[in-house]
Amino acid sequence: DKGNYRHFMAKEMHEQPEVIGHTLSRYINPSARKAAIEGIDLVDFAGIQRIILSACGTGYLAALIGKYWFEKYARLPVEIDFASELRYREAPVSDKDFALFISQSGETADTLAALRYCKQEGARVGSIVNVPESTIARESDVFFQTMAGPEICVASTKAFTCQLAVLAALAVQAGRLRGVLNEEQEGALIDTLASVPGYAVQALKCESAIEPLAHKLSRATSALYLGRNTNFPLALEGALKLKELSYIHAEGYAAGELKHGPIALIDETMPVVVLAPYDGIFEKTVSNMQEVAARGGKIILITDQKGADASVDTEKDLIVLPDVPDFIAPIIYAIPVQLLAYHTAVFMGTDVDQPRNLAKSVTVE
Ligand code: F6R
Repeated sequence: DKGNYRHFMAKEMHEQPEVIGHTLSRYINPSARKAAIEGIDLVDFAGIQRIILSACGTGYLAALIGKYWFEKYARLPVEIDFASELRYREAPVSDKDFALFISQSGETADTLAALRYCKQEGARVGSIVNVPESTIARESDVFFQTMAGPEICVASTKAFTCQLAVLAALAVQAGRLRGVLNEEQEGALIDTLASVPGYAVQALKCESAIEPLAHKLSRATSALYLGRNTNFPLALEGALKLKELSYIHAEGYAAGELKHGPIALIDETMPVVVLAPYDGIFEKTVSNMQEVAARGGKIILITDQKGADASVDTEKDLIVLPDVPDFIAPIIYAIPVQLLAYHTAVFMGTDVDQPRNLAKSVTVE
């Protein structure tokens, strides 16, 4: 049931504050200011040497964001791969690894095969899955459920942000167990995580600002998304969502890579979506943005008020989000990225919930 929404995608995007809240309530204890993850002992975070994160599609992009968190908050080396690559690579995997697979459906053929491979090589295997009775959930040594509820739209939205919520909580708990985070640091991160649903409510309010920008974007034949740090995977996610929903060709790049190739594409016909909260590397991304502007590229900057103020000199369209702590920014910045692709597709008149050639659950490789 779509309720009052025109598409399941719209409904599912708007459910995010609530379902992220449900998911977090399972993995953090806000009053104790601690990550509280059942089954965590099986992982032996203090003893493992590496975490392997693997998935397909949007789940893979959640894993990429997870990599930044596990490295930063738990100082844990992260290996990351598409499940379709991991399964055939004969990568060295051992009992010193924890292999964590991410899947909305829990039935994706490549992800299941990669899980079986890592298990056979002796690693502990875990999964972050939305469907508890799925094969991937059942075959995992430890299973972390996302509480997104049924996701009907083929393009993943709420499952993605719930995957991020679980990864964030896991990274904090790993950080504590590995002696990287002290009690105070853990407490501060948990307070921040607990604030995600409130920020998500605010982020959804940028929808009215996004619609006219989506209208412009719907006339493009190609678009570029740029970001640094955790906004790089989100740039990839933005491009993925835009192409699957609106069929507009799009690419995501780490902003620092702009001058190593994609800058050749920039002209007056090229929209460039820049994801840049006002953080420690904002200025670096702004200089990339200026390079785009100097070549006539049409910029859509997704930032906060401070970022908007600090970039008044560059001509652009703006999507202004609340000022969010760095740690949770990727969860909040996912929302305008989804909304932009959604409204572009609505203007194009495509079948938003069931894009051509795509299936919700990819059970063949
Ligand atoms: C994109 C999308 C797909 C899925 C991918 C993996 O919006 O939804 O890229 O993320 O097919 O599916 P699951 O998560 O079910 O393994």
